[in-house]
Amino acid sequence: MTLQKNQRVMCSNPIWAALLSLLVALTVFTLTVCVSKNPLMGASQEKDTAVQGALHEEPPMREVAGLTRPEGDKCAVPPESRFDCARDRALSQEECEERGCCYAPLTQSISNGPPWCFYPPSYPGYRMGPLSPTPRGQAATLIRSVPSYLPRDVSTLRLEVMAETERRLHLTLKDPASPRYEVPLSEAQPGSKSEIRAPLYTIEFHQYPFGFTVQRRSNARVLLNTSVAPLLFADQYLQLSTSLPSGLISGLGEHYTPITLDLNWTSVALWNHDMAPQSDVNLYGSHPFYLVQEEDGHAHGVFLLNSNAMEVVLQPTPALSWVSTGGVLDLYIFLGPDPQDVVRQYHEVIGFPMMPPYWALGFHLCRWGYTSTNATREVVRRMRDAGFPLDVQWNDLDYAESQRVFTFDPQRFADLPAMVDEFHQQGLKYILILDPGISSTATPGSYPPFDEGLRRGVFIRNSAGQPLIGKVWPGPTAFPDFTNPETKSWWEDNIRAFHDRVRFDGLWIDMNEPASFVSGSIEGCPDTDLENPPFVPAIIGKRLNSGTLCMSAVQNLSSHYNLHNLYGLTEASATHSALVKLRGTRPFVLSRSSYPGLGRFSGHWTGDVRSDWDQLRYSVPATLLFGLYGVPLVGADVCGFGGDTTEELCVRWTQLGAFYPFMRNHNDRPNAPQEPFVFSPQAQDAMRAAITLRYSLLPLLYTLFHHAHVSGSTVARPLFLEFPSDPNCQTIDRQFLWGNSLLISPVLERGETELATYLPPGIWYSLHNGRPYYSKGQYLLLPAPLDTINVHLRGGHIIPQQEPAMTTAASRANPFLLTVALSASGGAWGDLFWDDGESLDTFEKKDFSFLIFLAGQDKLVSKPLIVNRALDGLVLGGVRIFGVPSKPQEVQANGEQVKDVVYFSDTKMLTVSSLHLPMAEPFIIQWIL
Ligand code: NOJ
Repeated sequence: MTLQKNQRVMCSNPIWAALLSLLVALTVFTLTVCVSKNPLMGASQEKDTAVQGALHEEPPMREVAGLTRPEGDKCAVPPESRFDCARDRALSQEECEERGCCYAPLTQSISNGPPWCFYPPSYPGYRMGPLSPTPRGQAATLIRSVPSYLPRDVSTLRLEVMAETERRLHLTLKDPASPRYEVPLSEAQPGSKSEIRAPLYTIEFHQYPFGFTVQRRSNARVLLNTSVAPLLFADQYLQLSTSLPSGLISGLGEHYTPITLDLNWTSVALWNHDMAPQSDVNLYGSHPFYLVQEEDGHAHGVFLLNSNAMEVVLQPTPALSWVSTGGVLDLYIFLGPDPQDVVRQYHEVIGFPMMPPYWALGFHLCRWGYTSTNATREVVRRMRDAGFPLDVQWNDLDYAESQRVFTFDPQRFADLPAMVDEFHQQGLKYILILDPGISSTATPGSYPPFDEGLRRGVFIRNSAGQPLIGKVWPGPTAFPDFTNPETKSWWEDNIRAFHDRVRFDGLWIDMNEPASFVSGSIEGCPDTDLENPPFVPAIIGKRLNSGTLCMSAVQNLSSHYNLHNLYGLTEASATHSALVKLRGTRPFVLSRSSYPGLGRFSGHWTGDVRSDWDQLRYSVPATLLFGLYGVPLVGADVCGFGGDTTEELCVRWTQLGAFYPFMRNHNDRPNAPQEPFVFSPQAQDAMRAAITLRYSLLPLLYTLFHHAHVSGSTVARPLFLEFPSDPNCQTIDRQFLWGNSLLISPVLERGETELATYLPPGIWYSLHNGRPYYSKGQYLLLPAPLDTINVHLRGGHIIPQQEPAMTTAASRANPFLLTVALSASGGAWGDLFWDDGESLDTFEKKDFSFLIFLAGQDKLVSKPLIVNRALDGLVLGGVRIFGVPSKPQEVQANGEQVKDVVYFSDTKMLTVSSLHLPMAEPFIIQWIL
């Protein structure tokens, strides 16, 4: 007998497991098998201390009317439509039937498959009372007269339904009798004040058993139907299932997956964990949001605002079940109707991403293992000597004395302040790592961060009220509680004091899941319901406190059980606001752990990726998904962090990395060096070309960040977002777009020098030489030699570029270049957002320039809509126009003939150079055919 995921044998004893198999085979069932802890009985005696939940007495299951073995053909549910009745633990047949569920073991031996124990239709659930109006919508009471099989059932729920906008529906299910933990979310833009006249949805409720259906009004498509399985709401187990209108679902990160998820009886666990990216495990962040592409180009999204450990079960029906271990059910439904709209509507709730400083878009270089200031200076020197653009030099934990943050090593990094000043003089920025764990074992009086932290009560406490001590790089450490306002001010004080000595420009907040090398604490954890909930999602380490803190640890806002997934977010928020106060310029923060809303404060890198081709390939969907999650400043460690890279891999990774919104080469200590200058001259040339290409495109990249910041769009964008009606684009995640116009097609396989490249319908021009490709929506086999990355510009678009230099600061002063890709009808448009690149809130303070470029009728026109001082002295130096049908007789700029003109008749590209047109003023460039 093969045990299904939901058929885990409860006792680890193999004899019992074998016996159970035998009993099942003989279809003899006895209740005596493996019953070690029955959550159905006596659970109400296990009192919960920190979960703010109601404690409900429940009668023993056998006495419960309604939960009887289903009879007749009630269990004739097709396998793909079965919803698991034994998600919380494995059950014998008798136990399954005691729950009133159907038991039907599968005969085939497959590792992932339909559950054996599943709900019959109309399984007892909540009964919904009448809806009554509230100031924000409608509300109803839900009562369950038949208790569920879970400990500490919440038998009465309050349902609130809020039609917040015509495209956003918000439903909450809470315990009206006793407040439970809720995620503090301050960003959601308020709903519409005016009457909602034409919502894109209709919602219908099913009274008994309670469920609801949301339909798209325009085509009556059912987007969610929660009646497919019962709603469960107990203190530590909340479950809501829904049908899905299509199997094309993206989101629910952070995992190592393609852009769309596998619905073949898989599940994903959301629980922030220090885990190098690999398949089937929960990684550093949690994003309980999904987007479904409906078959006709429409899309909708769902966000479950809940931060507890959860598992999302996916099945081929297609359907999905959210299973959370606490909190409330707080559900946002975004109607789109396009996928881009869904993303924007989601970001309206979680907050639009911050605007990064301009320099953050340059090339960053890091390594764990730059063991001294001299070693760090040396790599900067070699980068410069080899002619590689470099904006930001980093140091990992090497800089810190005994790995204690807010210190620097008095020998190896004695002149760290001087080194940072030198970098600044060279036009570079400097970033260092800051782990949250504060060493607790320094001699008292010698390490103020800990001494002061103790005095000010900033650390997370154990259940005995003492600072909880875990273990990270410096050894035993305490963990700041960033939900405590005092911690934020202590953190700011420490950052300020350190910044007074070392003038760093940004902070890298690592290990903030939070990671600990002992599970729980060095003293273990108490044996409570928080440490041992009735259900643990399928997470790495199998226990919630594995590799992190005790769940019973106490934070200002709630227990760590509830707040764990918010640790990185709260640290990022505290770090961001400290940097704002301290430096008065736009902060740069890079966080490993993430939760919805992180993008308001921080970027993200995808953690400890290995230097191999598979990781290179999956870094594309990882980057694209973080765009959907509202964290557009994202990228993987270029050339890989773990293991030795190879020259070919590193070249390809640098080419792809040049199109990560955040580009940093970072390497682990024991590995072969991988700075660009260590490779052969040919490899260096290829890398230099890629980085230089990036620098030439920074005005475009920056403008895309502006749009993400003000309207919740994406920077690195999956093709389906831009071409939702093209079925070929639905799952493409080896290529991607920057904004709506630049198609990037990296080589992701070893030895490949030709690439099957999908071009959506329309004209696409090679960015390198303007060669046009007229596509009906097809794959083309394009040359992809090691020295180039394929990039195409979409007909109808204009992108702003600049002559690249060795730093972003120098590039920003260079002449602009416009690349114009004419559509079939000869038109194109584009825009440019420009400001000083570092002041706070320039958009909000209207201290920026915004230019529109339009092409048509053989003219290119620039219309500066808003102009500020940042554009002073900047000029347009040249133009490339793709798709000019024949050689022009003459080219004029503002009515005057231009001499520096070349027409390439093979590619139909016109280049105009040696211009000197002030960007702050309107101009017209005309080519007379
Ligand atoms: C783990 C991070 O993921 C990695 O990037 C860093 O180099 C090490 N911690 C050491 O700080």
